[in-house]
Amino acid sequence: VRPDALQRTLEGVHVAISAGGTREPLDPVRFLGNRSSGKQGYALARVAAQRGARVTLVAGNTADLSTPAGVDLIRVGSAVELRDVMHKVSADADVVVMAAAVADFRPVTPAGHKIKKTSADPDPITLTKNPDILAELVSARREGQVIVGFAAETGDETTSVLDYGRAKLKRKGCDLLVVNAVGDGKAFEQEDNAGWLLSADGAETPIPHGSKAQLASVVWDAVTARSTDSQ
Ligand code: CTP
Ligand code: CA
Repeated sequence: VRPDALQRTLEGVHVAISAGGTREPLDPVRFLGNRSSGKQGYALARVAAQRGARVTLVAGNTADLSTPAGVDLIRVGSAVELRDVMHKVSADADVVVMAAAVADFRPVTPAGHKIKKTSADPDPITLTKNPDILAELVSARREGQVIVGFAAETGDETTSVLDYGRAKLKRKGCDLLVVNAVGDGKAFEQEDNAGWLLSADGAETPIPHGSKAQLASVVWDAVTARSTDSQ
């Protein structure tokens, strides 16, 4: 058994982390967005840097967060921009974490100029699907690269948070999936966990309620445990 400090180091490891929410342009001044703060992605970046990793943080829209010390920050707007940057940085990354809240849909043709109000009713907004960045990164995965996804699930009458998480892990094909139990569905779960860390090898680790830094530690512990297992 290795001493804790040794097992948990990320020295010599390049990690690429996405954080925050994407903004999908409607016209040059308007967008469709979401309420993601980016705090979980930033916490992952901060803890990884503290453990010695080289960290590239790719951030969409976030709350007013300060860039963690020693972290390279790249700003993006839309999901398509995020996808292009993630493909570039992932080519050189040992670990890729998709903590960003990627819009599932975008306006199909953003107007080239500001949409004007007239006496007529507005045109409906036609949406199209965004690329599934996580699934694409899994398809492009380099030998030995570890890919981590996130999912926020409520569960419903027929399916628990955990079952939705298991299905998403399979569908996405990533190595680890952090499943956060959100909303009222939580009350129907048996254990009062903040969520689970699901591994493609079948391991399921309950994540207790705690700070985003604590959750980040759980994730990096699992990532380093994987790479020490496979050596
Ligand atoms: N994700 C992504 N590209 C997308 C949508 C999601 O890379 N277009 C990533 C997220 O960053 C997250 C994971 O996929 O790591 C799961 O996101 P989620 O929204 O839960 O999954 P979806 O496949 O979009 O399914 P749904 O929203 O219908 O539950
Ligand atoms: Ca989604």
